[in-house]
Amino acid sequence: MDFTALRRDPDVGGADLAASDAADRLILDEASALLAASAPGTVAVIDDAYGALALGAVAAGAAEVRSHQDLVTGERATARNADRLDARVTSVAFGPGAVAGTRVVLMRLPRSLDRLAQTAALIAAHADPAVTVVAGGRIKHMTPTMNDVLGDVFGRVDVSRARQKSRVLFARSPDADAGAGALASWPRSERHDDLGLTVVAHGGVFAGTRIDVGTRLLLSVLGDALPDATSAVDLACGSGVVAAQLACSRPELRVVATDRSAAAVASARATVAANDVADRVRVVQADGLETLGAASQQLVVVNPPFHSDAALSTGIARHLFAEAARTLVPGGELWCVWNSHLRYRPVVETIVGPTRQIARNSKFTVTASVRRPSPA
Ligand SMILES: C[S@@+](CC[C@H](N)C(=O)[O-])C[C@H]1O[C@@H](n2cnc3c(N)ncnc32)[C@H](O)[C@@H]1O
Repeated sequence: MDFTALRRDPDVGGADLAASDAADRLILDEASALLAASAPGTVAVIDDAYGALALGAVAAGAAEVRSHQDLVTGERATARNADRLDARVTSVAFGPGAVAGTRVVLMRLPRSLDRLAQTAALIAAHADPAVTVVAGGRIKHMTPTMNDVLGDVFGRVDVSRARQKSRVLFARSPDADAGAGALASWPRSERHDDLGLTVVAHGGVFAGTRIDVGTRLLLSVLGDALPDATSAVDLACGSGVVAAQLACSRPELRVVATDRSAAAVASARATVAANDVADRVRVVQADGLETLGAASQQLVVVNPPFHSDAALSTGIARHLFAEAARTLVPGGELWCVWNSHLRYRPVVETIVGPTRQIARNSKFTVTASVRRPSPA
């Protein structure tokens, strides 16, 4: 398998960001004998980044490989990489069908233990009893608690040797009853009486059922955001808490909520349903606002993702600001909360238009940017 042929597009990235890494290669090497001996349709991949695992599995001899990727951008990158390599991978939704009958599951260990717990429960409940899960990652992102999370629903968890700062966990002997029980505990729900909102979240969604400090600051001032608007967008909606608050507090408003993560979209749908506003909030899985037309929205609200790599954070935020600028009508507004040290104000001012500060606390800033008229 030629890993150098893989690309990240349509995801944002820089020249130094690769589409695969040493952890992908270790997972594939550790699983190579299982993959070579696998019967068609018995191999699944979960949370591959850009297709290295699924396409690597095909190259190692697996046929009819299923892949679930949380991010629609990753799913599209895999499809493009499959075309480049003339290989076939079937993209599937997160659910029993993603793993039913599988004997080998390759996965990247997610950063979120909740995501790992929900995924492990799904596999234990629905995969073949003889399944081997080969789950790997960069050692700096792994914790011993991951072994415990897998151990909650698998009878046996082993650890590979380390190679190039990566390691693999093997999980075997699934406990289907424990898996089904754990799976039934998702999504989780929490009532926030101070805000009059219920938040529902699947594993791995930003802040889970909590409401992040930055989001709270944003929610505290959102009543002042174009009070006469009839349409609004919760861009990068996560659990859907912004969309739910907008719809609950403004009965006239129709809201579109988008996120590129399938788990976020499922959570946001459940959140708006739990707050009885599902009839006025449309939730779509999308990269940015790709499903919305140019100059079609009055108000866009965003809490852009924060990444430990500030350059990557800014790249993603720029992409989201550009989407807001494209879809706002002239005079429409982008309301945004950001970690103050990221200094997004000049960025959003350039991409969207004149920007004023709405609120600021020790960590976060909320700004409102008015979409400038397009040049004639
Ligand atoms: C900081 S969270 C904010 C979630 C929610 N609005 C809140 O305040 O709790 C950022 C969200 O951006 C989403 N995201 C990142 N890149 C995206 C993209 N290109 N298109 C849509 N959503 C994206 C992530 O999946 C994540 O849910």
